[in-house]
Amino acid sequence: MAMEGYRGFLGLLVSALLVGFLSVIFTLIWVLHYREGLGWDGTALEFNWHPVLVVTGFVFIQGIGTGTSWEEAGRQGPGVPDRVPTEWGWAREGVREKRAAARERSRRGAALEGGGRAPRPGGRGPGRLGRARELQRWGGARGAGVCGETPIIVYRLPWTWKCSKLLMKSIHAGLNAVAAILAIISLVAVFDFHNARNIPNMYSLHSWVGLTAVILYILQLLLGFFVFLLPWAPLSLRALLMPIHVYSGLLIFGTVIATVLMGVTEKLIFALKNPAYSTFPPEGVFTNTLGLLILVFGALIFWIVTRPQWKRPKEPNSVLLQPNGGAPEGMEGSMAMNFGNMDKSDSELNSEAAARKRNITLDEAGQRSTM
Ligand code: HEM
Repeated sequence: MAMEGYRGFLGLLVSALLVGFLSVIFTLIWVLHYREGLGWDGTALEFNWHPVLVVTGFVFIQGIGTGTSWEEAGRQGPGVPDRVPTEWGWAREGVREKRAAARERSRRGAALEGGGRAPRPGGRGPGRLGRARELQRWGGARGAGVCGETPIIVYRLPWTWKCSKLLMKSIHAGLNAVAAILAIISLVAVFDFHNARNIPNMYSLHSWVGLTAVILYILQLLLGFFVFLLPWAPLSLRALLMPIHVYSGLLIFGTVIATVLMGVTEKLIFALKNPAYSTFPPEGVFTNTLGLLILVFGALIFWIVTRPQWKRPKEPNSVLLQPNGGAPEGMEGSMAMNFGNMDKSDSELNSEAAARKRNITLDEAGQRSTM
């Protein structure tokens, strides 16, 4: 499992999980021990679902669902075929023709280079290496590859690298969908509580920033689902939106942490009157510690997802999702392929072979992902 600083990655991941889990436990202790507990009756008990659900869903689950990985897609340049192989298998138009052409070219490529696996007779396509070469030919002849990233910590777990990209994307989408549902229920709880007690809605900065984060999160989820998970979006659109998706993912996560810290402080100022918050009561100290834990969790997640060396290696059949066609930072010398260069170096071929050994074949991945 070739991964630079693997132990460091594991150490940080375990720390993040522990700190995140501890944050959830602290929140439960806060509402169950120091506050009134939980209920759904328009009283403070209902309000208490608000911190419990946001810390569990919007902080912890979203944090685990956040990360960075290579996105597999292609760019449509002049003369580039309008569809390329994806994790869903061969894409829409002219599938048969492209399969046949790819098989033919792969066969010729394998024969010429003496390396790659020959296509399976009657198989689903030219095979993993063949497809990689196929893409290189398309890219090499007609334009540079494009590259992109999608946020998800689970992509970074080396033991998941053999899983199909579609499965990993689905886990990513699923975790974020659960986080969104919990965040929405937490808002229903606090609005219901305010309405039952005739407390004005949306007067605080906390509520403005928080609601904005929830709306952006839902938009991000929908965009991710329709553009990156479903196979129908044009590859050029994926390439265009991927940097925005990555940026907004991190921005929303950071905003959520800030909103939680504001909310916790607000609640402590409202609730701690006698003894006052300013007199260091045990609940104040305990809940301040909860705030620190959440901050540390956010910091660990940010560190993990911004390390280029811990990205899931690109699938050999992937092209890079970067609208300008350049190799992104951290990709030099990695599995990123220089599609503008038809003559591949030995080292590139070697790394391809290594990836082939490590991962299941694309054919298998395709079979799994198109179930
Ligand atoms: C109220 C969002 C986390 C404490 C609100 C409201 C929103 C909101 C939209 C306004 C409800 C209304 O006006 O009826 C969020 C989001 C959070 C979050 C998106 C997570 C990212 C927290 C946490 C606490 C908290 C962890 C800690 C207890 C409060 C309090 C209010 C409130 C005390 C009532 C006062 C106010 O409207 O500012 N929250 N909240 N919030 N929230 Fe949060």
